[in-house]
Amino acid sequence: MEIVDSTIGLAAFKGCGFVPTMGALHEGHFELIRSCVRDGLPPLVSIFVNPTQFAPHEDFNRYPRTLEADARGCQEAGAVAIFAPTVEVMYPRGMARAQEEAKSLHLPTVAVKPRLEDACRPTHFAGVCQVVARLFELCRPQRAYFGEKDYQQLRVITQMVESSRSTDTTCSMPQIVPCPTVRDADGLALSSRNRYLQPHDRERALSLSRALQRAREILRDDTAPGTLGATEVIARAESAMRDELERHQLQIDYAVVRDANSLEPVTDAHAPLQPGMLRALIAARLGAVRLIDNA
Ligand code: PAF
Repeated sequence: MEIVDSTIGLAAFKGCGFVPTMGALHEGHFELIRSCVRDGLPPLVSIFVNPTQFAPHEDFNRYPRTLEADARGCQEAGAVAIFAPTVEVMYPRGMARAQEEAKSLHLPTVAVKPRLEDACRPTHFAGVCQVVARLFELCRPQRAYFGEKDYQQLRVITQMVESSRSTDTTCSMPQIVPCPTVRDADGLALSSRNRYLQPHDRERALSLSRALQRAREILRDDTAPGTLGATEVIARAESAMRDELERHQLQIDYAVVRDANSLEPVTDAHAPLQPGMLRALIAARLGAVRLIDNA
């Protein structure tokens, strides 16, 4: 398996199945690679810790960089190559200019309206849209695979691609393929940041998946015909999620149930709730470790 660090070798991978990552790879990423293989596309994995999606106080400097182990895992999962560009390859006009350009990007609505990750990390999605658009431009994939674990990111990138297609029918944006979250046997969603968790914090971290399970039960049971209205049942599910997280002393950034596409609140009290129409999303902090999950 090749490791490509400049744009020169990239032409050979045009039309690939693409898995963009920041490295520190785990089973969740390897499953994305396997999805490309199942779709019959040669998987190209990018590894680039993108400075423009981190705020100055975030963990850019200490983000785990584990290229050797990542390369072994990619090869085993069936990747044909890794694209591991330098900052200069990604942002040839320099970092200061790249940071300025990120600020002036026009972002999809789902990157600015829901008040979820966009409220907690106000500059994050500008950097994500910038780097993903640049990776697509360089790698020219046919399909790009993203985990549902970062659900708002998945919606943001999907909307970005849809909007480029609608304004430019000749644009060569890939099809976005959502892939289910991969979990450990105990239910914890896999994340590169789980390695920051102390062993004794793991039990508390499981309250995220338990809270989502509780929301799922309430939404399933209380929306049976003749029971509560939509906004009432959503409020009950949100309150049950908060109770579960607070019982384990997690600091909640948000624990909400939203429209699964727009990620905005459901405001129609009597909206008929269909399976798949809602998404429960949580972000909570356990000391210095910030965890997100959704279902
Ligand atoms: O999800 C990630 O790892 C990153 O946000 C992405 C999509 C690779 C962009 O840097």
